[in-house]
Amino acid sequence: MTRLDDLATPSILIHEDRLERNLRNLQQACDAAGVALRPHIKTHKLVPIARRQLELGAPGLTCAKIGEAEAMLVTGVREIFIAHSLVDLRQAPRIAALADQLDELRLAVTSEAHLEAFLPLIRQVNRPVAVMIAVDTGLHREGIREDSAAERIAQRLAEEPLVKLAGLYSHEGQFYGADHHQRSTEVAALLDHLDRVRNAIDPALAIWPGCSVSARAVLKASAGRVQAVRPGAYVFGDLSLTENANVMPWDDVALHVLATVVDKPTAELALIDAGSKTFSSDKTAADIAARAADGRQLEVFAVNEEHGYLRGKDLASVKVGDRIAFVPAHVCTVVNLTNLVHVMTPDQTLRTTWPVDARGKNQ
Ligand SMILES: Cc1ncc(COP(=O)(O)O)c(C=O)c1O
Repeated sequence: MTRLDDLATPSILIHEDRLERNLRNLQQACDAAGVALRPHIKTHKLVPIARRQLELGAPGLTCAKIGEAEAMLVTGVREIFIAHSLVDLRQAPRIAALADQLDELRLAVTSEAHLEAFLPLIRQVNRPVAVMIAVDTGLHREGIREDSAAERIAQRLAEEPLVKLAGLYSHEGQFYGADHHQRSTEVAALLDHLDRVRNAIDPALAIWPGCSVSARAVLKASAGRVQAVRPGAYVFGDLSLTENANVMPWDDVALHVLATVVDKPTAELALIDAGSKTFSSDKTAADIAARAADGRQLEVFAVNEEHGYLRGKDLASVKVGDRIAFVPAHVCTVVNLTNLVHVMTPDQTLRTTWPVDARGKNQ
């Protein structure tokens, strides 16, 4: 039986009890609100977790890329939404193959400019597909900016025999940095916005907002208006959810990065063996890449490829050779940088090791 002490570092640890709690709790909240949970698998990229999400009641999965969707087919999933702006005609055969293997493949139209590239692609795919129109609700990334654009897109899609307009979706990534005291007001405005765009086209269309920060607030405020949510990061959590967005308790964070202190060049600085090739370069609003998971005041404030720079009030307690578990700033990029994750039992025994099935499936 392998114990935590036997693992080489840096290693990615998943705490199975916390993971299971996170999966169950959100599924139960969705069930209670009568809203489907269609989790975004870009966070975990792991077949065993997707299987569990489906087993607990998710009717389908959300993916960012075709490759992620392909990697998830072995779960037996029947419905996949690829929430991304697909344009490449070279990908038509892969999209058609996905459509052939699913009960429903849902694709995104993210603007009128995107529609012009999407239509030739979808004609080449030549399979029935459901389409969701992206609405920009404040992130200012993809999504229609004016309500009338959604109406025009809907009219154009109605002329396509194999396309069924199924709904509207949004991603509220802006909530990660927003003042959480304002969240219920912002979620109310978000739902009013989506509802208004929907009603101008067809009140029967589905509304699928998606973000771990807003998921619970959306469930609370839905009042029958929302049909599904698509959070991703809730499965593991990270500093973005615990301290930026303030929606996750520290002890619910299910993924830690185990690293070793490899040097302490001064009394104020220690170096760990995990840098940007482990944590990525993403940082919190407070410019932190990771914090010690054990509650000590130790923060990774800078990263080079193979080094993390550690400082903090508790640095005196740290010596070369120590092994420290960290909560990363942004968990999705951490998972995509590793081949394997180690699943730990509550007594710190290694239950199993999972290969990251959709790791690097970015096409
Ligand atoms: C389109 C889309 N939907 C859903 C999500 C899931 O968001 P989160 O990981 O914050 O739950 C993301 C995350 O980036 C996204 O881009």
